[in-house]
Amino acid sequence: MNGKEILRIEDVKVHFSKRANLFSRGGKGVIKAVDGVSLGMNRGEIYGIVGESGSGKTTLGRAVIGLIQICSGEITVFGTKISVNPRRKGCPHRTKVQMIFQDPDSSLNPNMNVGGLLAEPILVNRLLPKKLLPERLGELLDMVDLPKNFLGRYPHQMSGGQKQRVAIARAMAVDPELIIADEPTSALDVSVQAQILNLLMDLKEKKGVSIMFISHNMAVVRHISDRVAVMRAGRIIEAAPAEKLFVSPREDYTKKLLRAIPKIRRYPCPAMVPA
Ligand SMILES: Nc1ncnc2c1ncn2[C@@H]1O[C@H](COP(=O)(O)OP(=O)(O)OP(=O)(O)O)[C@@H](O)[C@H]1O
Ligand SMILES: [Mg+2]
Repeated sequence: MNGKEILRIEDVKVHFSKRANLFSRGGKGVIKAVDGVSLGMNRGEIYGIVGESGSGKTTLGRAVIGLIQICSGEITVFGTKISVNPRRKGCPHRTKVQMIFQDPDSSLNPNMNVGGLLAEPILVNRLLPKKLLPERLGELLDMVDLPKNFLGRYPHQMSGGQKQRVAIARAMAVDPELIIADEPTSALDVSVQAQILNLLMDLKEKKGVSIMFISHNMAVVRHISDRVAVMRAGRIIEAAPAEKLFVSPREDYTKKLLRAIPKIRRYPCPAMVPA
């Protein structure tokens, strides 16, 4: 690991066993969701992970945050190793690494208002005395460009884009250094996608947070990423600085993914090209 590197993934495998169910008798074999992935991420970098559905992107992200046990290999986050340990669950860096999901509805408790949703991670992790909480909640709303009067709103009283802003503010509440963003714009209207991408880029610039940006949308990944890895069937088949990968891809598979990007030039931002 060099001085700038915050994450190193070394030959990591996550295999699931195929279980028999009502419709299939065969319970044999394994699904090699992640099958020998190695990569390194630097501080303040947006690293795009792109690939078709089922290529193992989400599994890789969940392994980094400790939601899934790895079968072999090693993940080093901020200098601490997460190795194969069947007894240990969870990430040793509860607050340093946060995850943002595709669907804010599934990550935001519908019974809590924005104030409660943002205060919870701060209070659970005992990051601030209660009297300083109102100021911090105001700061968090500012960070994601939502007005202060949103503190009293419940998830059903907000648009998809506003809910995703709250989910991002909730992740930022604990001052993370790495965010795993798993398809954070895929469930949003195309015009809102661009706003959320710009917000994530702002957080990188202003707060220095690093982002692992998982998406199947090549145009979106190109817009936001500094470096990109292309996954296929659990493996990284090509990784390069974003511009290099998009201008002169090495692998046929990457070229095929690139050809699938619709070429509609009148959109002001590549993120607005429909997925
Ligand atoms: N908990 C699990 N148990 C069994 N198989 C799983 C589990 N999680 C993922 N898989 C399988 O692992 C493979 C990779 O899944 P993963 O969700 O990582 O793909 P993905 O690249 O994120 O796809 P998508 O773009 O559709 O989100 C798939 O074949 C999936 O069915
Ligand atoms: Mg996924």
